Amino acid sequence: MCGIVGYIGNKKAMPILVNGLLRLEYRGYDSAGIATIEDDKIVVMKNKGRVNNLSNLSGIDKLVGTIGIAHTRWATHGKPSKENSHPHLDNSKSFAVVHNGIIENYHELKNFLIEKGYEFLSTTDTEVIPNLLHYYFNQDSKNDEKKLLRAVKNTCKDLKGSYAIEILSTYNKDKMIVVRKDSPLVIGKGLEENYISSDIPAILSYTKDFYLIDDNEIAELSRDKIKFYDSELNEIIKPVKSIEWGALSAEKDGYEDFMLKEIHEQPRAIRETVGAKLDNGKIEIEGLEFSKEYLENLNKIYIVACGTAMHAGLVAKATFEKFCKIPVEVDIASEFRYRDPLIDERTLCIYISQSGETADTIAALKLAKSKGAKTLAISNVIGSSITREADYSIYTHAGPEIAVASTKAYTSQVALLVILGMYFAEKLEKVDKSEINNLKSDILKIPTQIEEILKNTKQIQEFARKVYKEKDMFFLGRGTDYAVSLEGSLKLKEISYIHSESYASGELKHGPIALIENGVTVVAIMTNPSLVEKSISNIQEVVTRGAKVLAITSEDIKNDGLNEVIKLPKTNPLISPILSVIPMQLFAYYISKEKGLDVDKPRNLAKSVTVE
Ligand code: AGP
Ligand code: GLU
Repeated sequence: MCGIVGYIGNKKAMPILVNGLLRLEYRGYDSAGIATIEDDKIVVMKNKGRVNNLSNLSGIDKLVGTIGIAHTRWATHGKPSKENSHPHLDNSKSFAVVHNGIIENYHELKNFLIEKGYEFLSTTDTEVIPNLLHYYFNQDSKNDEKKLLRAVKNTCKDLKGSYAIEILSTYNKDKMIVVRKDSPLVIGKGLEENYISSDIPAILSYTKDFYLIDDNEIAELSRDKIKFYDSELNEIIKPVKSIEWGALSAEKDGYEDFMLKEIHEQPRAIRETVGAKLDNGKIEIEGLEFSKEYLENLNKIYIVACGTAMHAGLVAKATFEKFCKIPVEVDIASEFRYRDPLIDERTLCIYISQSGETADTIAALKLAKSKGAKTLAISNVIGSSITREADYSIYTHAGPEIAVASTKAYTSQVALLVILGMYFAEKLEKVDKSEINNLKSDILKIPTQIEEILKNTKQIQEFARKVYKEKDMFFLGRGTDYAVSLEGSLKLKEISYIHSESYASGELKHGPIALIENGVTVVAIMTNPSLVEKSISNIQEVVTRGAKVLAITSEDIKNDGLNEVIKLPKTNPLISPILSVIPMQLFAYYISKEKGLDVDKPRNLAKSVTVE
């Protein structure tokens, strides 16, 4: 899910490729590599770590090939290492491939290829691609100029998941082939040379003319020509587009800030995190092996994390308790580690950390281990410290999150935790299958529902404009609406510096209502149909005291006092926070913009808190 660059022309490819990778450096990644064709052979150079670790490799400046592919990797399958870095070759070294995305059925494809005698040198999902290309190329008895394209077509038919792929082959040394599905890829058109990239900024200094490749389209690049095909190899014509972005906005795909970009990346982040887990039959999660007996014997599940990650745990508690009938405690890592929690071998401790490097969360995990509990880490970074410490690790596939305020990591964490809860529930067989199946189908609809919400952000922007000068705000909700209101309130504090409090709506009358006076802003989340009536009564209490209310709901609320209502698509209350957090993320974002603040780097905060 990181970066791809490619070049075919008359210049040396290596400096162009390395320069392109450097321009993608801001995204963060774990390794980098390139392949060119030299003296009719594919030469691969790769290394773990930053682009400098690649460009300092001895011999790299001897590469004179004028065709090449390059990659920065954000590991999804297999730890960050030189062997797992891209490009990957097939066994005969006639195909080199770089790939962004995830091949969900790689296991099955790998077994198929192993049976056919292929060997694997890495633990990535990607390595099946060059070997499948080789397999299909050799199966094809027709020797015409479309043979390589047919191998690509047949390989893609086998792949499930998301991909942007660049292919070099010694069978056609003057052509490069690219294909994509659900992963970005653009082609830059030059004079007697062409460029490829996953992101426009990597090649924006070479050309302003781009072709945008759509899902399942294949492009065949020569030095002076680009041909496009659909998935059946029918030739198609594509228009060239001129892009006039400045380099800075290009880094952000045209968005003003990384946070806004990441808010819009949420549908994709969730699609990739959910992947094929809900496709058929019982849920399987790579890296997990829990028996029914082990789960039946649990006395408690702890979910431990900091900040936003902890808020994701608070949402998921409801799923675990409802579906697994096991008590769940959600705790703040810095509290947990010093309060001698009641843990033994029958406790399962789940730790959530986007970065996987948060000091308090890691210490809390070590504590549980020392007491004999099993530990499970949920992280967005393969090979991060927390995943190295835990007994089991599973991953959100949100891609690098750069803005300090977490958005896509949170929604991906909630989605993954709810799937984990269902995975346990299926093993425990304590709940009606139809309930689980309904939730599965609701999760699959979530990415499209987020896209719908993101189509219309004007109302939130206008409301933000009305209230950005306030000093205090309140967030209210019940059940999972309360859990997500804590996250809405945190987002606001982090990037707008407005003080806010989040309360369970029923708690209002036990104290905080004393603070409600004329003009105070209240954000009320009301998505749970069985609690909406109760919530409305609470909201009525603040409306009569003069509060300005922004209601976020999926219900048809008939109430005169509420004139700012954000209507969300309907979904199961167990996952509704994934939808209802979106307007709150945008609310915080637009307030911060109105105040002229640095959205991506708020004061006093760091992306990864590696100290106590
Ligand atoms: C989120 O917006 C915050 N920046 C912060 O609360 C963050 O979620 C927390 O520090 C935990 O980080 P982690 O997920 O990398 O462990
Ligand atoms: N799934 C591939 C891997 O883990 C590609 C990851 C990426 O997109 O960088 O190697």
